[in-house]
Amino acid sequence: MCGIVGFTGRDNAAPILLDGLKKLEYRGYDSAGVAINGDGVITMVKVSGKINNLCEKTENGAAISGSAGIGHTRWATHGAPNDINAHPHMSMDGKFAIVHNGIIENYAELRLELQESGYEFLSETDTEVIVHLLDHYYDGDLKETIMKTVSRLEGSYALGVICADFPDAVFAARQNSPLILGVGVGENYFASDVTALVSRTKNVIYLDDGELAELSPSNISIFDCIGRPVQKQISRVAWDIEAAEKGGYEHFMLKEIMEQPRAVKAAIEPRVRSGKIAFDELDLTDEYLTNVDRIYITACGSAFHAGQVGKYALEALLGVPIEVDFASEFRYRDPIINERSLVIVISQSGETADTIAALNEAKRRGAKTIAIVNVVGSTIAKTADNVLYTWAGPEIAVATTKGYTTQVAVLYMLSVCLASRLRRISAETEARLTEEILMLPSQIQRAIDLNPHIPYLAKRYHENSSVFFIGRNMDYAACLEGSLKLKEISYIHSEAYAAGELKHGTIALIEPGRLVVCLACCERLFDKMMSNVKEVKARGAKVIGVTAEGRKRIFSEADDVIFVPTAEELFCAVSEIIPLQLFAYHVAKENGCDIDKPKNLAKSVTVE
Ligand code: G6P
Repeated sequence: MCGIVGFTGRDNAAPILLDGLKKLEYRGYDSAGVAINGDGVITMVKVSGKINNLCEKTENGAAISGSAGIGHTRWATHGAPNDINAHPHMSMDGKFAIVHNGIIENYAELRLELQESGYEFLSETDTEVIVHLLDHYYDGDLKETIMKTVSRLEGSYALGVICADFPDAVFAARQNSPLILGVGVGENYFASDVTALVSRTKNVIYLDDGELAELSPSNISIFDCIGRPVQKQISRVAWDIEAAEKGGYEHFMLKEIMEQPRAVKAAIEPRVRSGKIAFDELDLTDEYLTNVDRIYITACGSAFHAGQVGKYALEALLGVPIEVDFASEFRYRDPIINERSLVIVISQSGETADTIAALNEAKRRGAKTIAIVNVVGSTIAKTADNVLYTWAGPEIAVATTKGYTTQVAVLYMLSVCLASRLRRISAETEARLTEEILMLPSQIQRAIDLNPHIPYLAKRYHENSSVFFIGRNMDYAACLEGSLKLKEISYIHSEAYAAGELKHGTIALIEPGRLVVCLACCERLFDKMMSNVKEVKARGAKVIGVTAEGRKRIFSEADDVIFVPTAEELFCAVSEIIPLQLFAYHVAKENGCDIDKPKNLAKSVTVE
């Protein structure tokens, strides 16, 4: 979704801001703009469409001079994605320019109030009220003015501000929307995402809700919501810029698929000591765990699908009822939560608005919370009682791959760890399951190596207008993610069904030539799955069968076969999803789709 960058230093700001905006492109956007303070005169350029349009219009930034400025990529919420609604927005006299991520919920009443005071609005955005409020309250003290302005705002904001009267300064403020400061030498920055900063500095400060920062080339001052100075710690980003670059791959998605053996290894290995799983980060007593009578898992998108996998593993190993729900539903459904409930939230970005709200709701109702998160210092990581990082490194492609598999790996580990602490499994079972988990990275590699024919399958099936994924138990959980991958990047209609449920309606849609991807890795359910395969074959479907290496009986029913390495049944989802990610990737490539930035989608959904 929207992205923000800010810079102050000695160099020309515009090329630096454009470079930062390019690093944020992956988040999804439909217009972009910059505003630069050149010795007290603000120049603003903004365009709909890609950042390249902005680069052309500004001669890659060279056409605008000034060493302090702000930039933005906008993912339209209030008003169409056109030049006028694009950010920055300026005050009527050109004194202020601002960029904003988030949603101002009371913008309609503020707009009326400002219109009555004579302010003219050019755009349809909620953001424009902020710049007019700044102008309205301004009395020469910009820090005070910004504080007064944000005190009127309801909703969420990450805000970047420049003012003609302060040619060297950029200001930043946040509430419920991420904003990170970059600490440089003779120059300083801010951005909504660390990816935009890391090529210039790895020293960052995570701004907290209600804080305001004033940045000059040589200094950063941070204040709380009533203007008191705040001392903040400088953190070091743990990865290099190469991690956020394509490294010779045609697409980020393919690179990230191939990175999975390494990413899952990074999530697992540091947490296994002497053959046992140890989550040092987990601050839950045995007494509390023994009393837990229900576990909720809540998340959005692929993280929700990881939660579905987690449900099967946790329920099987813990014997505690597990409920998985979309965060957008959980937050409004009056869930029965008390101090005996444990709530697990899962989020790659740590910034998904619905997941943040679900987490806050769970805490408000008295549950203890665990967050499984990738992005360090994100809102969810900061809010949850316990944080288990997935250590997947930066994920740039909108469609998650290593984000998902590392979440699943952490959930598998958590299942074994909690089962052991609750004495639900013997020491031998714990050792065996831990050994199985340690094999996941090599199984992922094997799942890649076993399937060099995926591009051929994509050529064969890419013209199908509708695809079904069916499976049972853990296979069904993997179907959900396999189906989502295909639809989000290839735009082919695709549905995941619990195989036994197909007969209750959806089988009406199976017709000659329809592709059905049948997942049959759970050994004890293999024969049941073969019956379902027969049912769809009898109606003319084409079947790709996905099963464990060596289970040759699949050949008698499937038109095409994908083998994955044999794994402990509970843990098969990780290697099983790999060929499905590759299938989605190659189908999207066949269909000429924008794989890393699928239409209408955003990497991190920071609005409800
Ligand atoms: C968006 C992304 C998905 C992701 C979902 C949840 O829809 O496109 O890939 O699964 O958000 O994101 P999170 O960062 O909370 O895991």
